[in-house]
Amino acid sequence: MPTFAFHTYGCQMNVRESEAAAKALLDAGHTPAADEESADIVIVNSCSVRGKAEDKALGKLGLLCATKRERPNRVIGLMGCMAQRLGNDIFKKIPTLDFSIGTRCADRVAPAVEAALQGSATLAMKDLHEQPDAPSGHVYQGGFSAFVTILLGCNRRCAYCIVPDVRGDEWSRPARDVLKEVRELAANGVKEVTLLGQSIMNYGLRTPAFDELDPPSPGGYTLPFPRLLEAVAAIDGIERIRFTSGHPSGVTDELIRLYREEPKLCHHLHLPVQSGSTGVLSRMRRGYTRERYLEAVKRLREAVPDIAVTTDVIVGFPGETEADFEETRTMMAEAGFDNAFIFKYSPRPGTVSATWEDDVSDAEKARRNQVLLGDQDVRGAQINQALIGQTVEVLAEGPSLRNKARWSGRTSSNKIVIFTPPERIQPGDIVSLTIAKAAPQTLYAE
Ligand code: SAH
Ligand code: SF4
Ligand code: F3S
Repeated sequence: MPTFAFHTYGCQMNVRESEAAAKALLDAGHTPAADEESADIVIVNSCSVRGKAEDKALGKLGLLCATKRERPNRVIGLMGCMAQRLGNDIFKKIPTLDFSIGTRCADRVAPAVEAALQGSATLAMKDLHEQPDAPSGHVYQGGFSAFVTILLGCNRRCAYCIVPDVRGDEWSRPARDVLKEVRELAANGVKEVTLLGQSIMNYGLRTPAFDELDPPSPGGYTLPFPRLLEAVAAIDGIERIRFTSGHPSGVTDELIRLYREEPKLCHHLHLPVQSGSTGVLSRMRRGYTRERYLEAVKRLREAVPDIAVTTDVIVGFPGETEADFEETRTMMAEAGFDNAFIFKYSPRPGTVSATWEDDVSDAEKARRNQVLLGDQDVRGAQINQALIGQTVEVLAEGPSLRNKARWSGRTSSNKIVIFTPPERIQPGDIVSLTIAKAAPQTLYAE
């Protein structure tokens, strides 16, 4: 049987969907390739969030399809957000592509591979207003950590963002299905689950569209997000629960109580802020002010002193002045982020802000990006220094990539720790370690 490989761009949702598609290919009798070069079937899972992400996927597809000249039976396919955005146009750009599968239909990948092996091309797209199927099927390879998608799509429609257009209406999976999936993961040795959703704290919100699609029926209910976390925590074998991404509106007393009282809930929150200027935030349609965001972080940190808060920031949004940018700098200092991902604004076709002038030059975006990265490096180093001497629980992942004699693992706050492994350690074990040394991105322990 032909061998397959996935090349995945974008967020954890895509990683999860590549896994589900890989499971379907395994079930159909295909085997994973040793590497992409040798694979008979290569599937690119794409992201549209910035122009650069699309350029990368297009470049990759071009190179892969060029190899078909020497290897005419090789199958090259596309899935994910760019497939959804471009529709049939992808075949105009890359005529030798075998298939293109939009979002919400990763289950169509395996049939498209069969069709391609028989010589016919596939274009599959789903109506993004209809009730979607969540990605199903996990690949178990002795892994102790898994992603579980609980909220599909997004209804927030931030002015700059393509995600609602490519992922469709927000839809919460029935709690019953989520819990069934987590129970199955636990039965297969998974100890850590990361729940996924673009605006995950909206999980369980009953929008009119949602009531229509999922009428309350026995076992078919969703739960408010904190209740779902509790229900997942009640599953034996699951030791750590993470989720992403947060929004300040979801930082409720209930959630804070869970962080304090539910030992399985990891002390980390990814809370994308995007900007520290209330004016910019309002034009971004983020639904909070600088003050409201900072207040959410402050309440969290007061109640849960060891919580790590990480964020995403966009620099060079249309109309972002030097003063707005300075506000982002001071807000990041005040929030004391443990880590931050900084992105240069990229206008996305069809979004609200793409109709506004992209008036911050590329050079200026690059400068602002560098300034924030520099600030964050200093801040990260200081925060990590303060952890020296503290004892932390680390979930061991396996030998470190750089030095096989040492292992790497993660703290509850999602920081990487490199340590000397005790005897008979297994991936997935939780060990208690005292931090001896700190770098901006990494901690070290004996
Ligand atoms: N749903 C998440 C974000 C998903 S996209 C949330 O709202 O928190 C991941 C990150 O990409 C965003 O947080 C944002 O910082 C960045 N991003 C999204 N659209 C962008 C654009 N048009 N240009 C640059 N960065 C963008
Ligand atoms: Fe995009 Fe905003 Fe939805 Fe996040 S919440 S996916 S930034 S529209
Ligand atoms: Fe990219 Fe799609 Fe995720 S646009 S960030 S892969 S939802």
